[in-house]
Parts: sequence; structure tokens; C-alpha cells
Amino acid sequence: MNLVSSRSEVQPFRVMQMLDLVHRRRRDGHDTIMLCAGQPATGAPKPALAAAEQGLRDSTLGYTEVIGDRDLREEVARWHSETYGVDTSADNVVITTGSSGGFVASFLAVLDHGDTVALSCPGYPAYRNILESLGARIVDLVCDESTRFQPTAAMLEALPETDRPRAVIVTSPGNPSGTIIDPAELARIAKWCEDNDAVLISDEDYHGMSFGRPLATARQFSDRAIVVGTLSKYFSMTGWRVGWLILPDELISPVENLQASLALCAPAISQVAGRAAFSAEARTELDGHVETYRAARQVLLDELPEIGFTRFAAPDGGLYLWLDVSHVTDDSEAWCHELVDEIGVAFAPGVDFDPIDGHHWVRLSLCAPEDETREACRRLGGYVNR
Ligand SMILES: Cc1ncc(COP(=O)(O)O)c(C=O)c1O
Repeated sequence: MNLVSSRSEVQPFRVMQMLDLVHRRRRDGHDTIMLCAGQPATGAPKPALAAAEQGLRDSTLGYTEVIGDRDLREEVARWHSETYGVDTSADNVVITTGSSGGFVASFLAVLDHGDTVALSCPGYPAYRNILESLGARIVDLVCDESTRFQPTAAMLEALPETDRPRAVIVTSPGNPSGTIIDPAELARIAKWCEDNDAVLISDEDYHGMSFGRPLATARQFSDRAIVVGTLSKYFSMTGWRVGWLILPDELISPVENLQASLALCAPAISQVAGRAAFSAEARTELDGHVETYRAARQVLLDELPEIGFTRFAAPDGGLYLWLDVSHVTDDSEAWCHELVDEIGVAFAPGVDFDPIDGHHWVRLSLCAPEDETREACRRLGGYVNR
């Protein structure tokens, strides 16, 4: 008997395999610099840790409301409203198990089997994997430096009638590109979606992390857009598994019903801790982390061209730099393994993010300390120019 469904035949997440490899090597005593991780190297901010300790003592930590603890939803709504000058109500916020849980719930809420979804290539692989297993049809918006690796309204407009999407996913700052969609372009995409009856799903997981460019939320331009957020990135609480959706009114009840069956609620202790991550004290700590990403970014921007890597997306924000390695390999996955073995430096192979051209690209993380990032460049230069 075949136990495995055809819908479960999704691609492995090679970044996670690379992380396992790094952990194994470090356990065996091999020094390894990790530039493959998609998570901050830091823990939760101090006020969140203090709130968690108190929560363990004072709360029964039973199920919360299905759509999340009201106080946390208020914090998300206040943060969103104050940051972008919009009027976001806690009534439109649903707390999910990481933003990953929010993607599953929102895809189920807006898509029927066979619906078309447009997304950028390169892009975050989990969208593709979840969508394929739900039976959605994917249309790639192939992006390169001409649009700073981000999709545009013109690309949507150029799609043939047969590829007109039911939903469009945008990610800004991007993963793996680190680039930010200009507010005016995001406004055009939002308008195109409204005019063409497409649901705009805006992954804003890397908000809070810009190195200077303005960051807009899709809700500035459309109250029909779905905004996705998380405590995993700027808030440095990756394993606590708390994310959120900011939903148009008509999607609140369907998502609540789905969430009740998919998850019952997000982890209670993480919601207690998460509330405190929005405090001014926590934000000061978290803004300090962004400065360390900025420093690592500068090292990469200075060092990579020196050692012969000249084509990359310069990160505007977020945690990554997307690097063309086509002059040294045609197989970025094998090359990443080679680098770990030979020089103890781990990058993420591009094939995860770009099924078309990813064998020529790798993703570097900005999460390692500045000195380690510099050392990684020194080793890489020595290796490729040996
Ligand atoms: C673009 C993007 N969206 C969503 C996620 C999922 O994050 P989480 O489920 O931890 O909120 C990630 C994780 O790396 C990501 O890079």
C-alpha cells in the first residue's frame, strides 16, 4: 500500500539541510561560519523574556482566543498603525503559528483548487511548496536586476489572459533578494490587484529592517490586501512561533474558522512574551540588532567585488544578499557543500529560491557578526582565487 499522497511530493528545503550540516560539523569540533541561516543569531528581547517568566508563574497557559490574545492583537495593530500612518484595528488581526501558519490559513481562505497564483522568482520556497500541495497553479514572475529582483505591476499587466492570477504574493524586503519594493510600485501592484479581482498577499515578515529605503505596507494602498507579519525576524523570536495576518473584513471569519481547525490557537506562552516585544525598551534592543545586520551588509558590499563576485542584489533591508556565482559553478548546491567541507563557510544554495536559474546563485545571510562575515569573505577569496 502506498502511504504517501502525491500532494506531499514537495521539494526539500535545502537551507534546513545546510543548517543540519553546520550543526553536525560544529558538534564534531569543526569551525564553521554560518551565512546560510534565515534567522537572527540573537534571542528574544529582554522584556519578552521577563514577560514569559511571569507568564509561566501567573498564567494557566490554556488555549487563547482562536484569533489570538486580544492584548497581542492590539499591540500588532498599534505597531502597524503607528509605523505606517494607517488605521489598523485589532479586529482585523489574527495571530498565527508563525507567519507560516498564516500562509496556510490565508491560502485556504482565498484559493480554490486549480486557482492561479503569481509570485516572484527568485522567491521564498515555502509559498511554492504549500501552494503546489494545495493544488494551486503557479505563475512565475521572473525578476532580475532590471527591477531590483522584485515584481512590478507591468509584469502582471503583461501576463496572458490564461495566466491572470486569483492571488499575487509580494515579499518586501525580499527573501532571498533583500530588496524593497518602492512604495509607488507597491501602490501600482495593489491597484492592479484591485482592478483585476486578484487578492494581494503582502509578506511583510522582514519589516522593521531597512537600511535606508522607505518601507510601505500594502494596507496603505488597499484595504483588500492581506498583510502577513511575524515575530521571527525583526523581533528576534524565531522559535516562539508567532505570526499574524491583517485581513480585509470579509476574510476574518473564514480565517478564524480555518484557524480553529488547523491550530486552535498559536502558542500561549509565546503570545504572552510577544506582547512585550513591542515595548519601547524591546524596540531599542531590536533596533541595535538591525545595526549589526547593516555592518555585515557593508562588509559583504565591500569585500565581494574585491574577490571577484560583482553581480548581486544589494540588500535594502531584511537579512540576505543574493549572489551570482555562475563564474565559479553551474551547480550551486554542490558548490555550497564543497565550501563547507573545504573552508568551513556555509551559504544557502540558490536552487531553493529559484527553480529556473538558482543553480547559478547562492544566498548569504547578514546574521553573522561582522568579524565572522569578514573572515568568511577572506576564506572565500582564498579558495576561489587559489
Ligand atoms: C519571506 C518569508 N516568509 C515567511 C517566512 C516564515 O517565517 P515564520 O513562519 O517563522 O514567521 C520566512 C522564513 O524564513 C520568510 O523568509
